Amino acid sequence: MENKRPEWTSYISFIIATIGSAVGLGNIWRFPYIMGEYGGAVFLLVYLFMVALICAIPLAVELAMGKIYKSDVVSVYEKINSRFKIFGIIGGITAVLIPAFYFVVGGWIINYIWIFLINDIPADFSAYFLTMNANPYIPLSLTVLFLLCTIIFPFIGLNKGIERANNIMMPLFGIMLILLAGYALTLSGAQEGLRFMFKPDFSKFSGEMILAALGQALFTLSIGMGAMITYGSYLKKEVNIRKSVYTLIFFDTVVAMLAGIMIFPIVFTNGIEPTAGATLVFISLPQIFLSLPFTRVLAVIFFLLLFFAAITSGISLLETSIACLCDRFKMSRKKSALLIFLAVLLLALPSSLSFGLMTDIRIFDKTFFDFLDYITSNILMPFGSLAAVIIAGWYAKNIAKEAFGEGNFARLLTFLLKFVLPPVLIAVLIIGLN
Ligand code: TRP
Repeated sequence: MENKRPEWTSYISFIIATIGSAVGLGNIWRFPYIMGEYGGAVFLLVYLFMVALICAIPLAVELAMGKIYKSDVVSVYEKINSRFKIFGIIGGITAVLIPAFYFVVGGWIINYIWIFLINDIPADFSAYFLTMNANPYIPLSLTVLFLLCTIIFPFIGLNKGIERANNIMMPLFGIMLILLAGYALTLSGAQEGLRFMFKPDFSKFSGEMILAALGQALFTLSIGMGAMITYGSYLKKEVNIRKSVYTLIFFDTVVAMLAGIMIFPIVFTNGIEPTAGATLVFISLPQIFLSLPFTRVLAVIFFLLLFFAAITSGISLLETSIACLCDRFKMSRKKSALLIFLAVLLLALPSSLSFGLMTDIRIFDKTFFDFLDYITSNILMPFGSLAAVIIAGWYAKNIAKEAFGEGNFARLLTFLLKFVLPPVLIAVLIIGLN
């Protein structure tokens, strides 16, 4: 069974799929609003630093762990030491919890594509957003539809499903993003938007912002729950991890910046504040599209772009847990996909309803949706990264060697891995717990 594991057909396919995993709602939806909240350019600077020097390290470690041990996330940890199996299990569980809220957003995206494509466009999007979610059936059905659109690819297989989906969707995504960013630059608010993104106002600097930048960097690189371990496990021997990581963080960062270049000029052209928060993309932006020429074309391109970004990330999330079932229980891919489909469905149900019917049901004062977002982003993912970093830094030395290669720079990275990352991640965890 072991040697029947699939492999990426080419290095390019691997890179495109990993970029597909990293580039997601985190880049287009979360990054601009977090940057907006924390004051623009200064946040961007801190964020770039976090990605390049801090988060690139667990990313390389996860890919290397997969590449060396060639298994699903649970088995990889178990192969390192059977006592570490629990970290793999937590990763596998996180990989089911994230889709349960991420895919609800995916459902909204489908809804918006649909209204801008053929339906009557609402006049007031904040009212619309509330009504949409108050209806129990539509968001739920769309979440399931999004889940189906995503799970079909791991269901089909690595080469014919996952690779193909990424190879088609990611280039389309890139073209649409460049188109819209180019368009945004022709708007009257372009200058102000760019100034907001690139001219730092150091008075905005704060400790909380450093943490937000770090959290965003971890989230956007899909670190801490085994997705990168799983994608790394399909790698051929000759692939150089360090080089792959450079490529990956380069593209992920370019995409996040292009998303900012696309969104902030639009925002400033219409004089709204960039601090609109999580609803920026679903309320403020569509509202602005109404006042621009070619509303429907613009909006459809925008939400389609978001759709592709979300699907390709969703695929890697689902593949992580599906691979666990395939590898560990020797289940067929199809049967594993079916089981994971049911598990995600079960959790997505209350998550989707938490904007309407179940909004009064709270866990630690949070709706089910917010609770899932909170425990995965603030606790489980930083915890998963911490486990990987400590194991690679202090226990299984072969991992760091595979991840960083040799030479002085590799030694610097290993130093960061052993002494800087654990305290940083522990701080993230402690603060995240509050
Ligand atoms: N990186 C994804 C994004 O930017 C979100 C994400 C976080 C993710 N963890 C993941 C995606 C694990 C796939 C696998 O939207």
